[in-house]
Amino acid sequence: MKTEMLDAGSSIPLIGLGTWLAAPGEVYTATKTAIEMGYRHIDCAPVYSNESEIGDALTDSIKKGLVTREEIWITSKLWNNSHAPEHVIPAIKQTLKDLKLDYIDLFLIHWPIVQRKEVIIPKTAEDFIPLDHLPISETWQQLERVVELGLCRNIGVSNFSIKKLKELINSAQVKPFANQVELHPYLQQNNLLTFCKRNDVHLTAYSPLGSFGRPGIIKQPNEPILLKDPVIVSIANRMNISVAQVVLAWALQRGTSVIPKSINPLRMQENLSVNEVLLDKEAILQISSLDKHYRYSSGSFWAIEGSPYTMKNIWDE
Ligand code: A2P
Repeated sequence: MKTEMLDAGSSIPLIGLGTWLAAPGEVYTATKTAIEMGYRHIDCAPVYSNESEIGDALTDSIKKGLVTREEIWITSKLWNNSHAPEHVIPAIKQTLKDLKLDYIDLFLIHWPIVQRKEVIIPKTAEDFIPLDHLPISETWQQLERVVELGLCRNIGVSNFSIKKLKELINSAQVKPFANQVELHPYLQQNNLLTFCKRNDVHLTAYSPLGSFGRPGIIKQPNEPILLKDPVIVSIANRMNISVAQVVLAWALQRGTSVIPKSINPLRMQENLSVNEVLLDKEAILQISSLDKHYRYSSGSFWAIEGSPYTMKNIWDE
Protein backbone atom coordinates (compact mmCIF):
# COMPACT_ATOMS: atom_id res chain seq x y z
CA MET A 1 0.00 0.00 0.00
CA LYS A 2 1.35 3.44 -0.96
CA THR A 3 1.69 5.76 2.01
CA GLU A 4 2.79 9.32 2.59
CA MET A 5 5.21 9.99 5.40
CA LEU A 6 4.81 13.34 7.11
CA ASP A 7 5.77 14.12 10.67
CA ALA A 8 8.00 11.63 12.45
CA GLY A 9 6.30 8.31 12.75
CA SER A 10 3.12 9.22 10.89
CA SER A 11 2.56 7.65 7.55
CA ILE A 12 -0.93 7.74 6.10
CA PRO A 13 -2.03 4.96 3.70
CA LEU A 14 -3.10 6.76 0.54
CA ILE A 15 -6.20 4.68 -0.20
CA GLY A 16 -8.85 4.76 2.48
CA LEU A 17 -12.41 3.54 2.72
CA GLY A 18 -14.96 6.36 2.92
CA THR A 19 -17.92 5.61 5.20
CA TRP A 20 -20.33 8.52 4.69
CA LEU A 21 -23.66 7.05 3.56
CA ALA A 22 -22.48 3.54 4.39
CA ALA A 23 -25.71 2.55 6.11
CA PRO A 24 -25.91 0.79 9.46
CA GLY A 25 -26.42 -2.88 8.71
CA GLU A 26 -24.03 -2.62 5.74
CA VAL A 27 -21.01 -0.89 7.14
CA TYR A 28 -19.93 -3.73 9.47
CA THR A 29 -19.51 -6.14 6.58
CA ALA A 30 -18.04 -3.46 4.30
CA THR A 31 -15.38 -2.52 6.86
CA LYS A 32 -14.46 -6.14 7.61
CA THR A 33 -14.33 -7.03 3.93
CA ALA A 34 -12.20 -3.96 3.24
CA ILE A 35 -9.69 -4.95 5.91
CA GLU A 36 -9.58 -8.51 4.55
CA MET A 37 -8.86 -7.09 1.09
CA GLY A 38 -5.99 -5.00 2.39
CA TYR A 39 -7.50 -1.59 3.14
CA ARG A 40 -5.45 -0.02 5.93
CA HIS A 41 -7.20 3.32 6.26
CA ILE A 42 -10.83 3.92 7.27
CA ASP A 43 -12.32 7.41 7.22
CA CYS A 44 -15.05 7.93 9.83
CA ALA A 45 -17.07 10.68 11.50
CA PRO A 46 -19.66 10.69 14.27
CA VAL A 47 -22.15 12.52 12.05
CA TYR A 48 -22.21 9.52 9.69
CA SER A 49 -24.00 7.68 12.55
CA ASN A 50 -22.14 4.43 11.98
CA GLU A 51 -18.99 4.60 14.12
CA SER A 52 -20.27 2.02 16.57
CA GLU A 53 -20.74 -0.56 13.83
CA ILE A 54 -17.34 0.27 12.33
CA GLY A 55 -15.94 -0.23 15.84
CA ASP A 56 -17.44 -3.73 15.97
CA ALA A 57 -15.81 -4.56 12.63
CA LEU A 58 -12.45 -3.22 13.82
CA THR A 59 -12.65 -5.20 17.06
CA ASP A 60 -13.55 -8.41 15.25
CA SER A 61 -10.89 -7.92 12.56
CA ILE A 62 -8.19 -7.34 15.17
CA LYS A 63 -9.41 -10.32 17.25
CA LYS A 64 -9.38 -12.52 14.19
CA GLY A 65 -5.80 -11.49 13.45
CA LEU A 66 -6.65 -9.86 10.10
CA VAL A 67 -4.82 -6.73 11.16
CA THR A 68 -3.20 -5.23 14.24
CA ARG A 69 -4.24 -1.87 15.66
CA GLU A 70 -0.86 -0.41 14.66
CA GLU A 71 -1.30 -1.50 11.03
CA ILE A 72 -4.54 0.37 10.44
CA TRP A 73 -5.08 4.12 10.12
CA ILE A 74 -8.32 5.47 11.55
CA THR A 75 -9.49 9.03 10.95
CA SER A 76 -12.46 10.61 12.69
CA LYS A 77 -13.77 14.14 13.00
CA LEU A 78 -15.14 16.72 15.41
CA TRP A 79 -18.72 17.65 14.54
CA ASN A 80 -19.83 21.27 14.18
CA ASN A 81 -21.82 21.22 17.43
CA SER A 82 -18.76 20.37 19.54
CA HIS A 83 -16.34 23.23 18.78
CA ALA A 84 -16.70 24.82 22.21
CA PRO A 85 -13.55 24.09 24.25
CA GLU A 86 -15.47 22.11 26.88
CA HIS A 87 -17.02 19.84 24.25
CA VAL A 88 -13.92 18.73 22.30
CA ILE A 89 -12.50 16.13 24.68
CA PRO A 90 -15.92 14.55 25.46
CA ALA A 91 -16.54 14.37 21.68
CA ILE A 92 -13.39 12.41 20.90
CA LYS A 93 -13.96 10.21 23.94
CA GLN A 94 -17.41 9.32 22.56
CA THR A 95 -15.87 8.51 19.17
CA LEU A 96 -13.24 6.30 20.83
CA LYS A 97 -15.97 4.56 22.80
CA ASP A 98 -17.99 3.93 19.63
CA LEU A 99 -14.96 2.80 17.62
CA LYS A 100 -13.78 0.74 20.63
CA LEU A 101 -10.27 2.14 20.36
CA ASP A 102 -7.78 3.72 22.76
CA TYR A 103 -6.63 6.24 20.18
CA ILE A 104 -7.25 7.30 16.60
CA ASP A 105 -4.58 8.21 14.07
CA LEU A 106 -6.10 11.46 12.88
CA PHE A 107 -8.75 13.77 14.35
CA LEU A 108 -10.07 16.52 12.09
CA ILE A 109 -12.21 19.59 12.62
CA HIS A 110 -14.95 18.50 10.20
CA TRP A 111 -15.97 21.98 9.01
CA PRO A 112 -15.08 25.61 9.80
CA ILE A 113 -18.72 25.91 10.88
CA VAL A 114 -20.14 26.22 14.38
CA GLN A 115 -23.57 24.96 15.43
CA ARG A 116 -25.38 25.05 18.74
CA LYS A 117 -24.64 22.04 20.92
CA GLU A 118 -28.12 20.57 20.59
CA VAL A 119 -28.15 20.79 16.79
CA ILE A 120 -26.84 17.85 14.75
CA ILE A 121 -28.18 18.87 11.33
CA PRO A 122 -29.06 22.58 11.09
CA LYS A 123 -32.43 23.53 9.68
CA THR A 124 -32.69 27.26 10.39
CA ALA A 125 -30.28 30.18 10.64
CA GLU A 126 -30.67 30.15 14.46
CA ASP A 127 -28.98 26.74 14.60
CA PHE A 128 -25.62 28.34 13.73
CA ILE A 129 -23.11 30.36 15.72
CA PRO A 130 -20.93 32.71 13.64
CA LEU A 131 -17.30 31.62 13.40
CA ASP A 132 -16.00 34.85 14.97
CA HIS A 133 -17.97 34.05 18.16
CA LEU A 134 -16.02 30.83 18.57
CA PRO A 135 -12.81 31.04 16.56
CA ILE A 136 -11.07 27.95 15.23
CA SER A 137 -7.96 28.81 17.28
CA GLU A 138 -9.89 28.12 20.52
CA THR A 139 -11.12 24.76 19.25
CA TRP A 140 -7.65 23.92 17.95
CA GLN A 141 -6.08 24.43 21.40
CA GLN A 142 -8.31 21.63 22.63
CA LEU A 143 -7.29 19.39 19.73
CA GLU A 144 -3.71 20.00 20.83
CA ARG A 145 -4.75 18.83 24.31
CA VAL A 146 -6.24 15.71 22.74
CA VAL A 147 -2.79 14.85 21.31
CA GLU A 148 -1.16 15.47 24.71
CA LEU A 149 -3.67 13.13 26.32
CA GLY A 150 -2.77 10.41 23.80
CA LEU A 151 -6.31 10.17 22.42
CA CYS A 152 -5.10 10.77 18.87
CA ARG A 153 -1.75 10.74 17.08
CA ASN A 154 -2.32 13.59 14.62
CA ILE A 155 -4.74 16.50 14.26
CA GLY A 156 -5.99 18.29 11.20
CA VAL A 157 -8.90 19.98 9.49
CA SER A 158 -11.42 19.39 6.77
CA ASN A 159 -13.05 21.82 4.33
CA PHE A 160 -10.49 24.54 5.05
CA SER A 161 -9.59 27.21 2.49
CA ILE A 162 -6.00 28.41 2.06
CA LYS A 163 -6.86 31.53 4.08
CA LYS A 164 -8.23 29.55 7.03
CA LEU A 165 -5.32 27.10 6.91
CA LYS A 166 -2.82 29.97 6.91
CA GLU A 167 -4.47 31.57 9.94
CA LEU A 168 -4.42 28.25 11.75
CA ILE A 169 -0.79 27.48 10.92
CA ASN A 170 0.18 30.95 12.18
CA SER A 171 -1.56 30.52 15.54
CA ALA A 172 -1.06 26.79 16.19
CA GLN A 173 1.43 25.09 18.50
CA VAL A 174 0.85 21.78 16.72
CA LYS A 175 0.69 22.23 12.95
CA PRO A 176 -2.27 20.64 11.12
CA PHE A 177 -1.23 17.27 9.69
CA ALA A 178 -3.90 17.20 6.99
CA ASN A 179 -6.74 18.99 5.26
CA GLN A 180 -9.56 16.90 3.78
CA VAL A 181 -11.55 18.53 0.97
CA GLU A 182 -13.73 17.68 -2.00
CA LEU A 183 -11.28 17.02 -4.82
CA HIS A 184 -11.66 15.40 -8.23
CA PRO A 185 -10.91 16.32 -11.86
CA TYR A 186 -13.81 18.84 -11.92
CA LEU A 187 -12.54 20.49 -8.71
CA GLN A 188 -8.78 20.08 -8.89
CA GLN A 189 -7.85 22.42 -6.01
CA ASN A 190 -4.50 23.29 -7.62
CA ASN A 191 -3.76 26.34 -5.43
CA LEU A 192 -4.69 24.51 -2.26
CA LEU A 193 -2.56 21.52 -3.27
CA THR A 194 0.45 23.77 -3.91
CA PHE A 195 -0.09 25.55 -0.59
CA CYS A 196 -0.37 22.25 1.29
CA LYS A 197 2.76 20.82 -0.34
CA ARG A 198 4.75 23.96 0.55
CA ASN A 199 3.56 23.81 4.13
CA ASP A 200 3.90 20.06 4.61
CA VAL A 201 0.16 19.55 5.12
CA HIS A 202 -1.21 16.34 3.64
CA LEU A 203 -4.27 16.75 1.39
CA THR A 204 -7.00 14.10 1.33
CA ALA A 205 -9.56 14.00 -1.48
CA TYR A 206 -13.15 13.31 -0.50
CA SER A 207 -15.78 12.60 -3.14
CA PRO A 208 -12.86 11.58 -5.40
CA LEU A 209 -15.33 9.88 -7.76
CA GLY A 210 -17.52 12.99 -7.98
CA SER A 211 -20.20 11.84 -5.62
CA PHE A 212 -23.12 13.28 -7.53
CA GLY A 213 -25.69 10.88 -6.12
CA ARG A 214 -25.76 12.15 -2.57
CA PRO A 215 -29.18 12.70 -1.06
CA GLY A 216 -30.10 16.14 0.22
CA ILE A 217 -27.79 17.91 -2.18
CA ILE A 218 -29.52 20.35 -4.49
CA LYS A 219 -28.52 19.26 -7.95
CA GLN A 220 -27.72 21.88 -10.52
CA PRO A 221 -29.49 21.61 -13.85
CA ASN A 222 -27.19 19.81 -16.32
CA GLU A 223 -24.93 18.66 -13.50
CA PRO A 224 -21.76 17.15 -15.02
CA ILE A 225 -21.26 13.45 -14.28
CA LEU A 226 -17.59 12.83 -13.64
CA LEU A 227 -17.60 9.09 -14.25
CA LYS A 228 -19.23 9.67 -17.66
CA ASP A 229 -16.78 12.32 -18.79
CA PRO A 230 -15.76 11.43 -22.38
CA VAL A 231 -12.09 12.29 -21.77
CA ILE A 232 -11.93 10.08 -18.69
CA VAL A 233 -13.85 7.30 -20.42
CA SER A 234 -11.40 7.45 -23.37
CA ILE A 235 -8.39 7.21 -21.02
CA ALA A 236 -10.01 4.24 -19.25
CA ASN A 237 -10.59 2.50 -22.59
CA ARG A 238 -7.08 3.24 -23.83
CA MET A 239 -5.47 1.94 -20.61
CA ASN A 240 -7.93 -0.89 -20.12
CA ILE A 241 -8.86 0.19 -16.60
CA SER A 242 -12.13 1.46 -15.15
CA VAL A 243 -13.17 5.13 -15.14
CA ALA A 244 -13.09 5.14 -11.33
CA GLN A 245 -9.51 3.87 -11.46
CA VAL A 246 -8.52 6.69 -13.80
CA VAL A 247 -9.69 9.41 -11.41
CA LEU A 248 -8.32 7.68 -8.31
CA ALA A 249 -4.91 7.07 -9.94
CA TRP A 250 -4.84 10.73 -10.99
CA ALA A 251 -5.44 11.81 -7.38
CA LEU A 252 -2.76 9.45 -6.04
CA GLN A 253 -0.22 10.64 -8.58
CA ARG A 254 -0.72 14.21 -7.32
CA GLY A 255 0.23 13.04 -3.82
CA THR A 256 -3.24 13.26 -2.28
CA SER A 257 -4.88 10.38 -0.47
CA VAL A 258 -8.35 9.26 -1.57
CA ILE A 259 -11.29 7.94 0.43
CA PRO A 260 -13.81 6.55 -2.08
CA LYS A 261 -16.90 5.23 -0.34
CA SER A 262 -18.15 1.84 -1.38
CA ILE A 263 -20.01 -1.00 0.25
CA ASN A 264 -19.76 -3.18 -2.85
CA PRO A 265 -16.86 -5.70 -2.66
CA LEU A 266 -16.13 -5.57 -6.39
CA ARG A 267 -15.94 -1.79 -6.43
CA MET A 268 -13.97 -1.80 -3.17
CA GLN A 269 -11.42 -4.12 -4.78
CA GLU A 270 -11.37 -2.05 -7.96
CA ASN A 271 -10.65 1.08 -5.94
CA LEU A 272 -7.93 -0.59 -3.86
CA SER A 273 -6.11 -2.05 -6.83
CA VAL A 274 -5.55 1.44 -8.22
CA ASN A 275 -2.44 1.20 -6.06
CA GLU A 276 -0.84 -0.57 -9.03
CA VAL A 277 -2.06 1.83 -11.74
CA LEU A 278 0.22 4.49 -13.24
CA LEU A 279 -1.28 7.04 -15.63
CA ASP A 280 0.92 8.20 -18.50
CA LYS A 281 1.83 11.85 -19.12
CA GLU A 282 -0.78 12.22 -21.83
CA ALA A 283 -3.57 11.12 -19.48
CA ILE A 284 -2.39 13.49 -16.75
CA LEU A 285 -2.32 16.36 -19.24
CA GLN A 286 -5.79 15.52 -20.57
CA ILE A 287 -7.26 15.38 -17.05
CA SER A 288 -5.63 18.66 -16.06
CA SER A 289 -7.77 20.40 -18.69
CA LEU A 290 -11.04 19.18 -17.12
CA ASP A 291 -11.13 21.50 -14.09
CA LYS A 292 -14.50 23.30 -13.87
CA HIS A 293 -14.21 24.45 -10.25
CA TYR A 294 -17.38 22.42 -9.75
CA ARG A 295 -18.48 21.46 -6.24
CA TYR A 296 -20.86 18.54 -5.98
CA SER A 297 -21.38 18.82 -2.29
CA SER A 298 -18.99 20.90 -0.33
CA GLY A 299 -20.86 23.39 1.75
CA SER A 300 -24.18 24.26 0.14
CA PHE A 301 -26.03 22.72 3.10
CA TRP A 302 -24.65 25.41 5.47
CA ALA A 303 -25.62 28.29 3.22
CA ILE A 304 -29.32 28.21 4.10
CA GLU A 305 -31.32 31.42 4.22
CA GLY A 306 -30.13 33.82 6.93
CA SER A 307 -27.16 31.59 7.89
CA PRO A 308 -23.93 33.38 8.81
CA TYR A 309 -22.22 30.91 6.46
CA THR A 310 -22.19 31.37 2.71
CA MET A 311 -20.29 29.49 0.01
CA LYS A 312 -18.25 32.68 -0.36
CA ASN A 313 -17.16 32.95 3.27
CA ILE A 314 -16.72 29.19 3.77
CA TRP A 315 -14.32 28.96 0.83
CA ASP A 316 -12.98 32.54 0.99
CA GLU A 317 -13.49 32.98 -2.73
P1 A2P B 1 -21.31 1.87 -3.87
O1 A2P B 1 -21.15 2.07 -2.39
O2 A2P B 1 -22.59 1.19 -4.22
O3 A2P B 1 -20.10 1.22 -4.51
P2 A2P B 1 -17.52 9.18 -3.55
O4 A2P B 1 -16.53 8.43 -2.76
O5 A2P B 1 -16.96 10.08 -4.61
O6 A2P B 1 -18.49 9.89 -2.65
O7 A2P B 1 -18.40 8.14 -4.39
C1 A2P B 1 -19.14 7.19 -3.73
C2 A2P B 1 -20.20 6.68 -4.69
O8 A2P B 1 -19.56 6.04 -5.81
C3 A2P B 1 -21.05 5.65 -4.04
O9 A2P B 1 -22.35 5.83 -4.57
C4 A2P B 1 -20.44 4.32 -4.48
O10 A2P B 1 -21.45 3.33 -4.56
C5 A2P B 1 -19.90 4.64 -5.85
N1 A2P B 1 -18.66 3.93 -6.19
C6 A2P B 1 -17.66 3.55 -5.36
N2 A2P B 1 -16.66 2.95 -6.05
C7 A2P B 1 -17.05 2.94 -7.35
C8 A2P B 1 -16.46 2.47 -8.54
N3 A2P B 1 -15.28 1.86 -8.55
N4 A2P B 1 -17.16 2.65 -9.71
C9 A2P B 1 -18.36 3.25 -9.73
N5 A2P B 1 -18.97 3.73 -8.63
C10 A2P B 1 -18.33 3.58 -7.44
